[in-house]
Amino acid sequence: MLFKRGCMNKEIILTGDRPTGPLHLGHFVGSLQSRVRLQESHKQFVMIADVQALTDNYDNPQKVRDNVLEVALDYLAVGIDPSKTTIFIQSCLPQIPELTLYYLNLVTMNRLKHNPTVKLEIRQKGFGDSVTAGFMTYPVSQAADITAFKASIVPVGEDQKPMIEQTNEIVRNFNRIYKKPVLVECKAVVPTFSRLPGIDGGGKMSKSLNNAIFLKDDENVLKKKVKKMYTDPNHLRVEDPGQVEGNPVFTYLDAFGSDRGKIQDLKDHYQRGGLGDSIVKNYLFEVLNEFLEPIRKRREQFAKDPKEVFQILKKGTEIAYEKAEKTLDEVKSVMCLKY
Ligand code: TRP
Repeated sequence: MLFKRGCMNKEIILTGDRPTGPLHLGHFVGSLQSRVRLQESHKQFVMIADVQALTDNYDNPQKVRDNVLEVALDYLAVGIDPSKTTIFIQSCLPQIPELTLYYLNLVTMNRLKHNPTVKLEIRQKGFGDSVTAGFMTYPVSQAADITAFKASIVPVGEDQKPMIEQTNEIVRNFNRIYKKPVLVECKAVVPTFSRLPGIDGGGKMSKSLNNAIFLKDDENVLKKKVKKMYTDPNHLRVEDPGQVEGNPVFTYLDAFGSDRGKIQDLKDHYQRGGLGDSIVKNYLFEVLNEFLEPIRKRREQFAKDPKEVFQILKKGTEIAYEKAEKTLDEVKSVMCLKY
């Protein structure tokens, strides 16, 4: 045990997802892939952020509850290994809302209003003036998620960068005001190839935009989704030259295909003209199906025993609780809250 720890990188990772639906290919390239890799060398905590999910689903708690299991199954299916990574449920850690409350004093309303990710979400979800205080302040709660673990690395998608900036501002304010370096600054680990477009070729892949391929999609669903994928709208006849850049079919091949030679040949042929969309799509279907098959199998295996899955989450939550409690204790100490 001691020896194994000695080989590990000392830096701590904290990351997570809102359980509002099953995870999709965008999550895979954006963060799941790095988490599977990083668990070999780091102490990693992965949080199922049900409290954050409630900030825009407070009227539908059952949906959040059901998706805790879905997300846990996706984690286990892609190879996040509970013997290496601590997987836990956010709402089981009362230290997080307590830290959030203390941190709220260190953040201005004005700063919260200008968080670009929150602004975009408010627009996308059509909240307008009825946006709740809970939603506006979720970045502060996310700072509590991260700092409770003294995490210095946060593997997330591009859209989460403003949360990391917000966290570090809080960390700096806290350490300055309370005159002790209790909290740790963090950095985002964002893969270079992190923004997977949706099957509609529009924005990024997302459940709410209805353009996602889920990790749990079966063969038939996958086939249908690939078939209706957006390609080059000017590639009308097979003999026309087609465009590869910004064509999601090729973006997915780049992300999930392994036969680089074959993919390059397809691209060249498509650009020359004479290659029909359906041939490229059939190949993409094969590539994605081969990628998803082992993930689906593992998922089905774990899904047979949800009790066992919750047992894994319970064990992880116990470990996470200890760590968060230790940080909270230090925080309360420097804030003169120990009686
Ligand atoms: N905000 C993240 C998302 O929407 C989820 C999340 C909650 C998170 N707490 C976190 C990510 C802490 C990284 C670290 O996907």
